Amino acid sequence: MSGLLINQPKYSWLKELGLSEDNPGVYNGSWGGSGEVITSYCPANNEPIARVTQATLAEYEETVQKTREAWKMWADIPAPKRGEIVRQIGDALRKKIKVLGSLVSLEMGKIYVEGVGEVQEYVDVCDYAVGLSRMIGGPVLPSERPGHALIEQWNPVGLVGIITAFNFPVAVYGWNNAIALTCGNVCLWKGAPTTPLTSVAVTKIVAEVLEQNNLPGAICSMTCGGADIGTAMAKDERVDLLSFTGSTHVGKMVAMMVQERFGRKLLELGGNNAIIVFEDADLNLVVPSAVFASVGTAGQRCTTTRRLMLHESVHDAVVERIAKAYKQVRIGDPWDPSTLYGPLHTKQAVDQYLAAIEQAEQQGGTLACGGKVMDRPGNYVEPTIITGLAHDAPIVHTETFVPILYVLKFKTEEEAFAWNNEVQQGLSSSIFTKDLGRVFRWLGPKGSDCGIVNVNIPTSGAEFGGAFGGEKHTGGGRESGSDSWKQYMRRSTCTIYYSKDLPLAQGIKFE
Ligand SMILES: NC(=O)c1ccc[n+]([C@@H]2O[C@H](COP(=O)([O-])OP(=O)(O)OC[C@H]3O[C@@H](n4cnc5c(N)ncnc54)[C@H](O)[C@@H]3O)[C@@H](O)[C@H]2O)c1
Repeated sequence: MSGLLINQPKYSWLKELGLSEDNPGVYNGSWGGSGEVITSYCPANNEPIARVTQATLAEYEETVQKTREAWKMWADIPAPKRGEIVRQIGDALRKKIKVLGSLVSLEMGKIYVEGVGEVQEYVDVCDYAVGLSRMIGGPVLPSERPGHALIEQWNPVGLVGIITAFNFPVAVYGWNNAIALTCGNVCLWKGAPTTPLTSVAVTKIVAEVLEQNNLPGAICSMTCGGADIGTAMAKDERVDLLSFTGSTHVGKMVAMMVQERFGRKLLELGGNNAIIVFEDADLNLVVPSAVFASVGTAGQRCTTTRRLMLHESVHDAVVERIAKAYKQVRIGDPWDPSTLYGPLHTKQAVDQYLAAIEQAEQQGGTLACGGKVMDRPGNYVEPTIITGLAHDAPIVHTETFVPILYVLKFKTEEEAFAWNNEVQQGLSSSIFTKDLGRVFRWLGPKGSDCGIVNVNIPTSGAEFGGAFGGEKHTGGGRESGSDSWKQYMRRSTCTIYYSKDLPLAQGIKFE
């Protein structure tokens, strides 16, 4: 017996996903991998689940070549037929939704319903992409010259490299994969090195669909690895679009490498999201919203509420109610259906939690709730509320990816809007108010500067039908719904002359 969870009867369901003790971490039509062997640990007990053999740089090279080769075939398939393949991927995921959701819960540490919810997001975006496959296209524009047709043609960029973060090990790949495929691109995925089993399990599901349709598996390639593979992708001229989801720190390095070669990038980086509660807010909406958005996923969502700005007239009452609700959050094994709050993903995150609390206290903050590492196996920490900090204290302006909520007291709308916008990140933001004028000021040019701007709902839980992403140090990318598909395509402005003279634009005579 190897001591791996996969060998215990309780976790035998992992085999339904095609996983075993040792798993190849490269897929490019066939499975392989001869790089570093990494063990994936369960954050709820820090026990090893199974192992994955990552890609070497030589295997990355071979995979890029095979993926580009596969593009030649994929790009020729009409978009609605590509949509049909994406539909089948969605259906294949539907069949495995519970078991794949359980793996996400076991490996990432989020609660089971959120693990399943993540797979559901991939399924939903597949459905969305099927419709999109019959709708993408450009306008026919009025030409100023007689006998000319002016049209916009959209073509796939080619190979889309997808680097994802640990906290959404399925959905973020799904958002990119479904839309990129429909647009006529091939994909090369590198997931987070701490969630490699999820990357392998998802790729197995997608690969089976491709293979059943006699398509090259390399249409959806995968190279497991860390910064080495990620850097290779960022520097690689053959990666026509690099979609990167992760921290602002790493995203900035990646962005510079891609810019160096004038490549395309789609950046989904860190957030520092605020809820602003005005004096006229319905506190019965505020309390559950703030608790869900700050405690949910143990504070490990890019859209987690990190700053709660309370009008001075409601400050004390809201802090009291939220602190009470925090103490009632059911903490436990993430796969237990009654659990609402699971562990942090890694031991390093526990250290970051402790360091942030220490800094917050040094900068004038007071613990209103939580603040301790929990005495149980796994990376469990108490969900924490800190009051009394200045709105511009350095720790308040830092995204620490743990469940710490900073509560700030404000007096005026102007002040609250300014505080919302003064951080470097610009992902998600919410106000709670009944004042219609304030709602439209919030949505307008002097309101929130974020990519996601909400009213009377929390900062987290975005719908995939809208464009998802944020401004400033969040990177400016948009993925998933609305017209985000345009990020995965290149636009050509085409002028076609169909008459006998050759009039030039702007009335220029050249004779
Ligand atoms: N805006 C969004 O949509 C969104 C969504 C999820 C997570 N996030 C952000 O992600 C962060 C948490 O995720 P994380 O800890 O996995 O982030 P991270 O930046 O540590 O890692 C992200 C990915 O980058 C890879 N990587 C590391 N070094 C690299 C390098 N030098 N070159 C290329 N790739 C490299 C990692 O292996 C991983 O796959 C948070 O900041 C969170 O806000 C943002």
